[in-house]
Amino acid sequence: MNLAKVDSLFWKGKKVFLTGHTGFKGSWLSLWLSSMGAEVAGYALAPNTTPNLFDVLNIKGQIKTSHIADIRNLEILKSAMLEASPDILIHMAAQPLVRYSYENPVETYAVNVMGTVNVLESARKIQSLRATVVVTTDKCYENKEWVWGYRENEPMGGHDPYSNSKGCAELVTSAYRQSFFNLADNHNAVASARAGNVIGGGDWSIDRLIPDAIKAFEANQSLTIRNPLATRPWQHVLEPLSGYLILAQGLYEKGGSLASGWNFGPRDEDNRSVQEVIDLMISGWGGAAQWERDGAGQPHEANLLKLDCSKARQQLGWVPKWDLETAIKKIVEWQKSFQGNANMRDVSLAQINQYTNT
Ligand SMILES: NC(=O)c1ccc[n+]([C@@H]2O[C@H](COP(=O)([O-])OP(=O)(O)OC[C@H]3O[C@@H](n4cnc5c(N)ncnc54)[C@H](O)[C@@H]3O)[C@@H](O)[C@H]2O)c1
Repeated sequence: MNLAKVDSLFWKGKKVFLTGHTGFKGSWLSLWLSSMGAEVAGYALAPNTTPNLFDVLNIKGQIKTSHIADIRNLEILKSAMLEASPDILIHMAAQPLVRYSYENPVETYAVNVMGTVNVLESARKIQSLRATVVVTTDKCYENKEWVWGYRENEPMGGHDPYSNSKGCAELVTSAYRQSFFNLADNHNAVASARAGNVIGGGDWSIDRLIPDAIKAFEANQSLTIRNPLATRPWQHVLEPLSGYLILAQGLYEKGGSLASGWNFGPRDEDNRSVQEVIDLMISGWGGAAQWERDGAGQPHEANLLKLDCSKARQQLGWVPKWDLETAIKKIVEWQKSFQGNANMRDVSLAQINQYTNT
């Protein structure tokens, strides 16, 4: 098996329409794509935290167009995509938080399900499109709380509105693929990508473990953890992003044979408990950081969740590169550089280079 690489020559000059470019993963991906010479048109809502990675990296100044608009608005989305006439579409815009989805189920379904319908509906009109990657999540599978990793051909499900909305987005993608794409008169190869719990420098989202930990450590407060024994497939943000890029390269070059669902998770050893991750963060951060358990009743969240990534390894040559210890080191390095007022674009580009050269 040949190990695949993100091919900067491939991306040079490619027109990419990226939804969710103002978010955590979207900002890293915008930086990576623009550093390779891709022409990125982004489409998302304005960032909703201060600070946020989009502004810290000055993404707006580096990509071709930044549309600040809602994916629920089909007409605006259609005209933005037509104007960009992209070769490649990567759809990442979503309401991505489990607990928020319990409080706002209607909004979560509207953005994640009808938003995906709107993105694929807009894509139908774009003759230039050759590859589309729809980003969902490991949580899209029907969770059986078992020790084995889920394979791409297992049933969709999702207990909570977020997970379930992503299962629905997978079904929407599959129906659109079969009904409208990769036919004699349409050469857009449409795939979906299911990744694990992403961590990395520059995530200021609410209600996520690493951002919460950093906030607590910086304020010299004890971190409160909801579910210390839950295991998750932890991975550095550059891991799934490299998977999306390699998948898009493959779709573009090989077409419909790769148009299906793909898992991009960490190695087995990196399916670890929340408590282990926090212990690693504490030893990396240093000082007097500590955590305690949140005794309050919590809404249901999956306890055991693992992905089987044999298909990506065998058919795309994609393998995870950075283990959890390395990922945590990179987060601490990034956050401490940010505290020290370093040029975060340079720091982030250096991490992308280190990742690609690993
Ligand atoms: N972070 C993770 O651990 C993780 C894990 C698996 C999958 N994912 C998926 O990856 C994608 C990106 O996640 P993230 O962590 O960067 O989240 P994020 O919250 O940082 O970014 C979400 C992006 O979606 C945009 N968005 C939200 N609602 C929108 C709307 N109505 N119209 C237009 N844009 C809208 C936001 O503006 C932002 O750009 C999501 O699809 C998420 O479900 C994330």
